Amino acid sequence: MQRKVVIFGRGGQLGVELCREFERRQWSVQAFDRQSLDITDDSLVEQAISEADPQVVVNAAAYNHVDIAEREPEAAYRTNALAVRNLAMACRQADVQFVHYSTDYVFDGAKGAPYVETDMPHPLGAYAVSKLAGELYAEAYLSSPLVIRTAGVFGPAGMFTPRGNFLELMLRLAKTTNPIRVVEDHVASPTYAPAIASRTVDLVEKNIRGLFHMAAGQPISWYDYAKMIFELASVSPMLHPTDEREYRTAARRPKCTPLSNAKLEAAGIAPMPPLREAVRDYLAAREHATAHRSS
Ligand SMILES: NC(=O)c1ccc[n+]([C@@H]2O[C@H](COP(=O)([O-])OP(=O)(O)OC[C@H]3O[C@@H](n4cnc5c(N)ncnc54)[C@H](OP(=O)(O)O)[C@@H]3O)[C@@H](O)[C@H]2O)c1
Repeated sequence: MQRKVVIFGRGGQLGVELCREFERRQWSVQAFDRQSLDITDDSLVEQAISEADPQVVVNAAAYNHVDIAEREPEAAYRTNALAVRNLAMACRQADVQFVHYSTDYVFDGAKGAPYVETDMPHPLGAYAVSKLAGELYAEAYLSSPLVIRTAGVFGPAGMFTPRGNFLELMLRLAKTTNPIRVVEDHVASPTYAPAIASRTVDLVEKNIRGLFHMAAGQPISWYDYAKMIFELASVSPMLHPTDEREYRTAARRPKCTPLSNAKLEAAGIAPMPPLREAVRDYLAAREHATAHRSS
């Protein structure tokens, strides 16, 4: 019998890759973007799951507007927390495996070493609180959900999504003559969406559950990341380092949140690709998509 998965958030960077990866592995995929199903609509979610009757439900939908969430914390909470509660309840009702994604922002960034799954969360803003609440709801209503924390997601679909990603922002800014300022005192683990998708399906197919960190193994400052992007894209805009004192944002952000992949690798899952390789793959996919569009 063909295995079936329902994916919410099909329109996002990760949702696109999850659909592709499950299909490549011969799963039957039923996927919803925001236009076809808003996950905050409890009855539509329950109906979709019960009608599809899948073995697995994956939630890649999220409210990811970290700064805007400070103005509208309810909207972030509705999507990232209360909708996840309802998804978990629907999965329990239908006896379906639930896969959900969270963020390195559940931590405050003060540890000074890679975060492991047993470290205590301490979110710093409305977005981060809402994502942590989503994790807690999944774990409260289900005995063994798969919850994956990742960071700085970038995938080729970000070329076309309204929110985009850091690479797209940098490449857009590089087309202007204005100097580009990027923070040097914040360190991230930018993570490639296709790599998250393939390792997610590995975990699902091995029936591994629990809380896992899954991010690029290499922490890097946003400034150095921008430098790497420009070098690999062969562009040379005026790039200057700045810091959080000069570059204020509405939301407080953790300064340094590398995630350790040790638990993931101990579970027999392939290591995440090096960041340079992932950025190269991204740029190649981008070039291919651009050529395809203009032909
Ligand atoms: N992107 C990052 O840097 C990052 C970092 C850490 C963790 N994560 C987590 O990784 C996962 C995947 O992120 P991503 O990068 O793929 O995000 P993304 O590209 O922003 O995609 C999220 C998708 O969810 C949709 N969505 C938002 N609210 C919805 C709702 N109420 N009902 C249905 N769909 C809704 C969005 O639609 P609209 O575009 O119409 O809003 C968008 O298509 C998320 O759980 C995210 O929190 C992401």
